[in-house]
This record gives sequence, C-alpha cells and structure tokens, in this order.
Amino acid sequence: MIRIAVIGAGYWGKNLVRTFASLPGAHLAAVCDADVDALDRVKGAHPAARIHTSYERLLEQKDIDAVVLATPAVTHADLARKALRAGKDVYVEKPIALSVEDAADLVRLAREGGRILMAGHLMVYHPAVRWVADRLRSGELGDVHYLYFQRLNLGIVRRDENAWWSLAPHDVSMALLLLGRDPVSVSARGACYLRPGVEDVVFANLSFAGGQMAQIHVSWLDPHKIRKMTVVGSRRMVVFDDTEASEKIKLFDRGADRRLDYETYGDAITLRQGDIWIPKVPMSEPLKAEANHFVECVRERKEPDTSGLDGLRVVRVLDAVQRSLERGGEPAEPAAVPDLLPASGAVVQRDQV
Ligand SMILES: NC(=O)c1ccc[n+]([C@@H]2O[C@H](COP(=O)([O-])OP(=O)(O)OC[C@H]3O[C@@H](n4cnc5c(N)ncnc54)[C@H](O)[C@@H]3O)[C@@H](O)[C@H]2O)c1
Repeated sequence: MIRIAVIGAGYWGKNLVRTFASLPGAHLAAVCDADVDALDRVKGAHPAARIHTSYERLLEQKDIDAVVLATPAVTHADLARKALRAGKDVYVEKPIALSVEDAADLVRLAREGGRILMAGHLMVYHPAVRWVADRLRSGELGDVHYLYFQRLNLGIVRRDENAWWSLAPHDVSMALLLLGRDPVSVSARGACYLRPGVEDVVFANLSFAGGQMAQIHVSWLDPHKIRKMTVVGSRRMVVFDDTEASEKIKLFDRGADRRLDYETYGDAITLRQGDIWIPKVPMSEPLKAEANHFVECVRERKEPDTSGLDGLRVVRVLDAVQRSLERGGEPAEPAAVPDLLPASGAVVQRDQV
C-alpha cells in the first residue's frame, strides 16, 4: 500500500482525494489544507484520513510515502521542493511550476534524491488522446501537418494566473505528446477584459521543426463550452471532442493527394472526400488512470509517463508564450533547458528513505 497525502482540498483537490481513496493499491493517509472549511468538507467522507493544517508538520510524518499537490499553481515549486527534500515522492498538478528555473530545479532535486516526480497532465491519460497517439504511431494518419485546440468556457475566472497558464497546460501537453517534440518558436496574442494584467483569452501559435504547427485558443470568457482538438494528417484527419458524451472521436478519411500523372495544372492535387468513422474507444476515467499510474510508479520506482521532465517541457512552452504575449505577439523561443542530472539509475527504493 502506498500511503498518500493530498495537499489542497479545493475545487480540484477534492477529486484527487476521492480518487486516491478509491484505489486498491493506495491508502489515503492524510489530507492537508490551510483552510479548515475545505478540510471539513472532506473529513466526513474519509474518516480514516488524518487531517492537517500545517504542511511542514505533515512532511515530518514518516508514514507518508508520497504527496499529491493540488494547491494553487503559485505554490507548486515551493511545496514540491519541500516534499522532495523531505524524501517524499511527489505528484504536482499542472503546471508544475511558474518558471523554467523552478521546474528544472524540481527535476534536478528529484533526480538527486532518487524521488518520483510526476506532472498532473491529465489529458495524457485520456483514452481518446491515447487512441489518437496510437494512430499516429501506427502511421494511420500519415504525418501531422498541423493541429489546433480550443478550450473555451464561461469561467472559472482566476485572479492569480491568466487563462493561458490555467487552461493551456492541457493542450500543450497533448501537442507535445502527439508531435513527440517541442516547438522551436511561439507567438501569441491575448487580451485582458476583466482584470488588468490577467489575460482572459489567448490565441497561441507554436511552430515545430519540420513545418508542423499547433494553434491553441483558450478563454474563460466565451459563450461556448468547447474542448476540442483537430489533427490534420497527411493521410487522415481526426477530431476529438471532449464535450461529447460517448462519440468523442471522429476519424475523417479526407485529405489532398498529389498526382504524379497530371496533364493540366488543375489536376495536380485531388481532394479525397472519404468516409467519416466514429471508432469505439473504450472510455475510462482519466483521473483514475492518472492516479493509478502515479501509485504504480511509486511502487515500481519507474519514471512516470508525465515525468517532471515533461512538466518542465510544458512550462518552457507556457513561459515562451507568456513572453510573446507581453511583447504584443513577437515570436519567442522556449528557454534553453538548464543543466539536469541524468535520469538513469537514480530512483531510490521507498524503504531506503
Ligand atoms: N487537471 C485538471 O483538470 C485541473 C482542473 C482544475 C484545477 N487543476 C489544478 O489544481 C490545482 C488547484 O486548483 P483548484 O482550482 O483546486 O484551486 P482552489 O483554490 O479551489 O484550491 C486550492 C486549495 O489549496 C489550499 N492551499 C493553498 N495553499 C496551501 C498550503 N500552503 N498548504 C495547504 N493548503 C493550501 C487552499 O486553501 C485551497 O483549499 C491548480 O494547480 C490547478 O491548475 C487541475
């Protein structure tokens, strides 16, 4: 049994509390929140879990193997650092930090101490996203030309972070997974309508070596609830609509083929208007898969599918877009990756702590 403490029992943290408490391989040992009202709300449902208001006191407890951080993003780097130094394995909600330096520091600390560090990139554990990734790997979609994401809704409006840092980690993590590489350049425009200095809407463009492009549109000030990804491949196209109850994926056998035997210029490209398929993708709760994966990585001492390094890769993109936003859309390059310790062979067994 992996003994877990969830830190932050707010809007999202209470889902993590419920999920970790339901896993057969985990024991929800404690919940910590600075706000007693938040603790009161989870106490009744999980009487076996200890309740803490002091994070520092919680980290002194020897019967906690791993902490799950679901506090506001501005606290992530500091709280994760403390947990790693206390010898705990750590799951951090997205984004793992608010700067490239802090994210790299967490990766370095985890590697130095042989701890598991996992980024809470939920969408990577979504069966529909895995399905698309598999189709890309098998070549069924051909090469990706470009992809675009829309994550729009009315709310939740936040004050400590803008819509980009709040919503886009999901889309950036999907783009990096599906393209298997990081962008070389980004540019973005956004606007603040509700609070000065806090963007409510952002349109970001990511350019990749090889000519691929990803466009991400996020907003918490929009009449539509849209969570959609469109992938345009050289052979087929896919739309993933996460607001659909069951038919989340549509596969379009559509594209444009270049003919070698054309006689007139107009014949050089033929458009293929093929079938549209709705594949049966077995659905399971992404949050449960994600939590299970963390417990498995802690037990087996293996690098998570969304490792600290993946968390750092996402933060590099978030940071570059933020710089571009602040310069009115001027292109920006992701920061150089600071020196990191090699990942190999460093993971320490739990009972060695
Ligand atoms: N994966 C997802 O789909 C998803 C969805 C929503 C939010 N999130 C992420 O979850 C995290 C939390 O977001 P939220 O909306 O739940 O925020 P929230 O403000 O509702 O909850 C945060 C909680 O953390 C507590 N807290 C703050 N500092 C603390 C500290 N030092 N020690 C102990 N408790 C502390 C607060 O009292 C609060 O109860 C963010 O990183 C956010 O990006 C992820």
